[in-house]
Order: sequence, then structure tokens, then C-alpha cells
Amino acid sequence: MNILVTGGAGYVGSHAARLLTREGHRVVVYDNLERGHAAAVLDLPLVQGHLSDRELLARTMREKQIDAVMHFAAFALVGESVTDPNLYYENNVVGSLRLLQAMRDAGVTKIVFSSTTATYGEPEKSPIAETTPQHPINPYGYSKLAVEHLLTDFAAAYGIGFAALRYFNASGASADGVIGEDHRPESHLIPIVLQVALGQREKISIFGDDYPTLDGTCIRDYIHVDDLGSAHLKALNQLQPGKGLKLNLGSGVGYSVREVIDMCREVTGHAIPAAIGPRRPGDPPALVADSSLAQRTLGWQCCYSDLRTIVTSAWNWHRAHPQGYGG
Ligand code: UFG
Repeated sequence: MNILVTGGAGYVGSHAARLLTREGHRVVVYDNLERGHAAAVLDLPLVQGHLSDRELLARTMREKQIDAVMHFAAFALVGESVTDPNLYYENNVVGSLRLLQAMRDAGVTKIVFSSTTATYGEPEKSPIAETTPQHPINPYGYSKLAVEHLLTDFAAAYGIGFAALRYFNASGASADGVIGEDHRPESHLIPIVLQVALGQREKISIFGDDYPTLDGTCIRDYIHVDDLGSAHLKALNQLQPGKGLKLNLGSGVGYSVREVIDMCREVTGHAIPAAIGPRRPGDPPALVADSSLAQRTLGWQCCYSDLRTIVTSAWNWHRAHPQGYGG
């Protein structure tokens, strides 16, 4: 298939684009490079444009005879979404609407969308199934949930086929160490801990150790970015006109912040000083996926999402690219 990958210069998008290419699909990356990295696109064709540019999107889809869209382009910093919600509604919601309009202009009917655990907010029960009520607690979560609604309504009214894949904690880097995770500013746990190992930060600050968990630190479900990619590929093959899939993507195993830091110490051989800091507002104690619906529906399972494999792949990339894509 010919696939337009929006946000293909970003973290999850670049890994998925590569996987799609390896599976024989022809990929066109669409990214404005505001937060993505040209270096992450490697030698794939890149159209540099904004999601708000319906005209360019539709033209690109027509010219490249696009069969399906994988939509990764979004802002994804929870804290920033609270201080600047306009940015999130504009880029994530209005941008996605423009993309869907452009798809209609160009007659493209299939889309796989990056959704998030953040649409669930602070669920009372873990593991989290798709039946868990979605009550976001920040504009980022609301912006992604709004797009899920957009997709549902567009499927019913205009016959698009979609999958909304709710990621838990995307992590790790490509097995060959060619592409990896580089956010500016970096806010994610594993890259930050590895920056401590590289001597770029003095210590890792643990955001709270008084949560109701075994060791008092927050528990998250880390899923390797290539396992996310393979789920996208499988979802693409299941899209049906007028229908939507809404699926959780996680490993089903939770690790505490302390466990992640310990694994980083083991893998890197560095001491990695840590200090307890205050809680980060809006961090739920535990978020672990029940991904059994995705497994059943897609015939998919995680292959790289044990914590050691995740951290090892991330470390290989960070060690080889200490300045990320900037070096
Ligand atoms: N953490 C620290 N210190 C740090 C950074 C993170 O202790 O310096 C902790 C956080 O408090 C959290 C865990 O490490 O408990 C993981 O934090 P991340 O920022 O790596 O990931 P989040 O779970 O906060 O965020 C993820 C996705 C978001 C998504 C969110 C939904 O990265 O895109 O889940 O809850 F919105």
C-alpha cells in the first residue's frame, strides 16, 4: 500500500514508517519538522507541511496515490497542554480535522490514529481495558479523545475505516540502533535516566515515593516502540469501511519508577544517582494495560517489551547518539 505517515519524523512515527517500508509498503512522510527530526526520516520521501494545510495534504495524497494514512503528528506533552491548551486543541484536534477533510477531498478512506492512555485520566482500576470510562484530566488527553470522537462520527457518516490505538508508555529504540527517542525538552523517564548515565544530568529526580504501590513510586506499562509499530501494521490490514477499532496497546506488565532506574543501572553499568522529589501533578499511581482485545483482534503480541530489551535498545541508541539527533 501507499501510506502517508503524518508525524513520521517523530518518535513513534519514524519507527513505524521504517517498519512499514520493511514490510513492502511505500511510505510518504508528512511532517513540519517543528518537533520531529529530519534525520529520523532517513531516506524516506518527506513532504514538509503542517496539518492545517488541507490543500497540501490532499494534493500529496492524490499525487502519491495514497491508500491509507497513519496519523502520528501531535503535540504530546501533558504539562505543556495545561499551560497552553490552545496549542493542543489547534494542532491535535483542528489539525486532525483538516487531515480527515483532506482525506475526503482525495478519496482516502483508511486511517490509523495514535491515541493514548491519557484519554482514561486517572482510572480507579488497573489493568485498564477499553471498557474503562474515558475521563481525561488534561487538555492533551481531551484533545486525543476528541479525535477519537471525530473518527467515530466520520466513520458512521462518511464510511471511513479507522483504528484508534491507545498507547501506554512508548519506549525503547530500533534494534539496529539507527533511530531512537529524542524529545525537546525531554520529559520521559527512560531517556532522562539514560542521560544521567551519560553524565549529561547529575541525577534522576523520582517524582514522589508515597504512592500506594509496592515501593511507593508510580507504575507504568512500558511498550517497545517497534511493538507499537507492528500493531499499526496489523490494524491497517483490518480496517473496514464505516467501522472503527479502539484498542489498548501495552505490554500488560507494570514497572515502578525505581524498577526502571534499577534496570538502567544494570544495563548501563553506571551508578545513576537518584533523589526523591515532589509528585508531578496529574500522575496516576498505576497505569497498566489490558491489551487482550488488541491481541485477539489483531493477532498481535509484544515481542520486544520486556524491560531489559527496552532499556538495552534505548541505551544502545543514546550511547551512540549522546546529543540525540542533534549530534
Ligand atoms: N518520572 C520521574 N522522573 C522523571 C520523569 C518521569 O519520576 O524525571 C516518572 C513519572 O512521574 C511517571 C513515570 O516516571 O510516573 C513515567 O513518566 P513519563 O513522563 O515517562 O511517562 P508518563 O507515564 O507520564 O506519560 C505517558 C506518555 C504521555 C501520556 C501519558 C498518559 O508519555 O504521552 O503517559 O498518562 F500522556
